[in-house]
Amino acid sequence: MNKIIQKAKTGHELSKSEIVELLKDDSINQELFKAADDVRHEFVGDEVHLRALIEFSNICRCHCKYCGLRAENTNVSRYRLNKEEILDFAQKAVGYGYKTIVMQSGEDPFFTANYLCEIVRDIKKLDVALTLSIGERPREEYEKLKNAGVDRFLIRIETTDENLYKEMHPQASLEKRKQCLYDLKELGYETGSGCLVGLPNQTLESLADDILFFKKLDADMIGIGPFIPHQDTPLKDVPHGSFELALKVMAIVRLLLPDINIPATTAMETLNPNGRIIALQSGANVVMPNVTEGDYRKKYEIYPGKICINDTPAKCRGCIGGKIASIGRTISTEKGFRVRPLSLNPSPAGRGKINIAKALRKKMTPQETKLWVYLRANRLGKTKFKRQYPIGKYIVDFVSIKNMLVLELDGGGHTIEQHKKYDKERDEYLKSRGFKVLRFWNNEIDKNIDGVIEKIMEYLR
Ligand code: 5AD
Ligand code: FES
Repeated sequence: MNKIIQKAKTGHELSKSEIVELLKDDSINQELFKAADDVRHEFVGDEVHLRALIEFSNICRCHCKYCGLRAENTNVSRYRLNKEEILDFAQKAVGYGYKTIVMQSGEDPFFTANYLCEIVRDIKKLDVALTLSIGERPREEYEKLKNAGVDRFLIRIETTDENLYKEMHPQASLEKRKQCLYDLKELGYETGSGCLVGLPNQTLESLADDILFFKKLDADMIGIGPFIPHQDTPLKDVPHGSFELALKVMAIVRLLLPDINIPATTAMETLNPNGRIIALQSGANVVMPNVTEGDYRKKYEIYPGKICINDTPAKCRGCIGGKIASIGRTISTEKGFRVRPLSLNPSPAGRGKINIAKALRKKMTPQETKLWVYLRANRLGKTKFKRQYPIGKYIVDFVSIKNMLVLELDGGGHTIEQHKKYDKERDEYLKSRGFKVLRFWNNEIDKNIDGVIEKIMEYLR
């Protein structure tokens, strides 16, 4: 096997020059796609997650040179769905079996954070995961929306090449865009990004930088699509991006971020009638069918030739379901959050956590110290427990990896509403990673340590 592919497949790290090498050499393409498919199978399995896309407003204040919905384009028939219409599409999507709703729009200030929060709260009652893709907003708004229940947020960086970014977005700033991604990550969103492949004057070096940016960000989702020229934009005469190159960028992302969610994008299918299936066999594990009905599909023309503009949500669901089955894959019935396996080297952000964990280890509470006496050195049922151990973005008090058991000690602070919510989220996350969480009160440790030990033993048995 090609040495660089081998290295990426086992270690999930590459240098910029190695990535450029892969992007340059088209003789290794099939090998690269196969390796990405293997890593996809190993880390995220054979299930495909379907996300129902609602395009709820095509009104946009931005001037992105490649985009058909840019503010300057007066040929677009603009629309906004109201709350009831959005909810109606969401309900129907749930009826078709979707477990995630993605609300996407142009940058439309009409949808204030407060109005969006109302919609979010109603959609969340349907027991689905909710993703927003609404562009740049102040951190406070991202925070409000997170608190209202939004789980994920998509905002592509488009390109990390400073000059190209300026050229493509005359009135915007790459730094601001990056800040949005950092804010979202910090606020605890599953954060999605991605780039366009085939912008004018884009180099392979800059695509390699994009990939390394996703790795450094530790993005949870990455969508890659080829650029497709739109007749009503300044880029109308620029040739479209290469399907194959977009696929290669996507495959390398899979090798470097093995456990994330990667969609087979609609733009890929626009350039190749079998594009999404090829993508699903080259590293992707997500498809985002459109569930907006009627004329709205035609009107949301980011680029021309968008697939399915005359189809119904029911038809798309059946069509994509059939295609997925035809390649021996199944449709997930879960919400499809990112599940980070413990075997993975922690990301740069994760490495920071380990240092925090080490620092925390020095300052155990009296109750933790008391329990640790029972747990340390495999004393309890010959089980190896570790303390202050990072799992995803959390640091748990004690864990037995072999038994997938987490022990958490709670002081009085955990009764406060906010803490309760935090603990619940934390427990849900740990559960989604396959852990059982046992929680004990500090005063149980103080007054009834035998009872606590018995409960742990009971689980271990
Ligand atoms: N071709 C392909 N993709 C495009 N996008 C915008 N315009 C185009 C185009 N002409 C992508 C951008 C944006 C996403 C919603 O659609 O990457 O983030
Ligand atoms: Fe819409 Fe195939 S996915 S018709």
